[in-house]
Amino acid sequence: MDLFYWLKNYVKHPLQLGAILPTSNSASRLMVKAISSSEMNLVLELGAGTGTVTQALIRKGVLEQNLVLVEINREFCNILERKYPKAKIVCGDVLDFFQDIDRFGETKFDAIISGLPLLSIEKAQRELICDLCIKNLSDQGHFVQITYFLRCSFPESIVRQYNLKAKFNGFTFFNFPPAFVWDIRRNVL
Ligand SMILES: C[S@@+](CC[C@H](N)C(=O)[O-])C[C@H]1O[C@@H](n2cnc3c(N)ncnc32)[C@H](O)[C@@H]1O
Repeated sequence: MDLFYWLKNYVKHPLQLGAILPTSNSASRLMVKAISSSEMNLVLELGAGTGTVTQALIRKGVLEQNLVLVEINREFCNILERKYPKAKIVCGDVLDFFQDIDRFGETKFDAIISGLPLLSIEKAQRELICDLCIKNLSDQGHFVQITYFLRCSFPESIVRQYNLKAKFNGFTFFNFPPAFVWDIRRNVL
């Protein structure tokens, strides 16, 4: 059923969805590889879609109530609300979410897992989203991004500005399209 909603929405909003099919189990596992549940108090997932990466986060030991899921598509939000009733689900644009971030208090996220199709987003907006992500990431936190090209879609300007380190976390052929995963962290000296 999720696949039906996915394909229906892909026909309407191909650039917003960014992938022909939802993230596979193989790619989801790669995205949560660097996550250690003992270090995770609060995890933010951007572009949570129909929730396959969310499921991988929960399997990794992250508590459902410690998840904040941001998704712009109303039908996908309905699916997420049904599957993950204890998670905080924010149905809207990621930039609006960050404008209203104060409701989470002073807390920073221990990990931000992004399925956002960054390359479909206009450059200035992409840079703003990534800048806000790093500002709201804890010092030891991970920002994880899936891409469908070898090149990391996280802006180089933000990597330089915050002295970050972008590490290639792996590739899976078992995703449509095949996927690359990048892990961006602060360069701790
Ligand atoms: C590649 S899909 C991620 C799929 C998800 N991992 C899954 O398996 O269902 C990207 C998701 O980002 C969402 N999205 C795109 N632009 C967004 C934005 N500006 N704010 C919030 N979500 C957005 C899309 O609706 C889509 O669900």
